[in-house]
Amino acid sequence: MAQRLPVDLEKSYRLLNHGPTVLVSSNHGGTVNVMAAAWSMPLDFQPPKVAVVIDRNTLTRRLVEASGEFALNVPSRELARLTLSVGSVSGRDVDKFSANAVPTFAAEKIGAPLLEDCLGWLECRVIPEPHIQETYDLFLAEVVAAWADPAAFVNGRWNTEPGGRKSIHYVAGGHFFETGDAFEIED
Ligand SMILES: Cc1cc2nc3c(=O)[nH]c(=O)nc-3n(C[C@H](O)[C@H](O)[C@H](O)COP(=O)(O)O)c2cc1C
Repeated sequence: MAQRLPVDLEKSYRLLNHGPTVLVSSNHGGTVNVMAAAWSMPLDFQPPKVAVVIDRNTLTRRLVEASGEFALNVPSRELARLTLSVGSVSGRDVDKFSANAVPTFAAEKIGAPLLEDCLGWLECRVIPEPHIQETYDLFLAEVVAAWADPAAFVNGRWNTEPGGRKSIHYVAGGHFFETGDAFEIED
């Protein structure tokens, strides 16, 4: 089991600022699920908020609307196959946690399970905006807790050393990028 440390909420936007593909986990009344999402982003610093597109045809959509909660889990390359898999089948047809033998642990503030072996985790409570949910499949949420593997992200910074685990970015058709070289500009 990877270590995890709390991330200061005011720095939690940094888990998403570079645009990683995430895994959206959800739970309503004991029905748990996970799907992939390339379309998520931070939305505010304090209180931290996120936006994520959750298509109306997904099981995740039903669970998120019913529970008002979800988690964004930030996977690394080691979980790319899982990311593609949970983004290609619906929890309506398959229990994706059992089928993929995905270990999870309990979130602190929400009911959705968090996926082991990710780099970071954002626990989110939906800010109801029925119009944009219905029109654009877009969900806004407040981040109520955040965590990271300190080997990957600590003190508000991603570890960009060679050999470290990195987040991933989806293009299409099974094609991903891994987060690449970091560089600094003095400000
Ligand atoms: C890498 C990847 C990224 C995806 N990004 C999104 C996304 O941002 N929003 C979305 O609604 N669906 C996205 N999808 C599709 C859902 O993950 C897919 O419809 C999933 O099967 C829904 O699962 P569910 O019905 O169990 O909730 C993505 C799929 C993949 C493979």
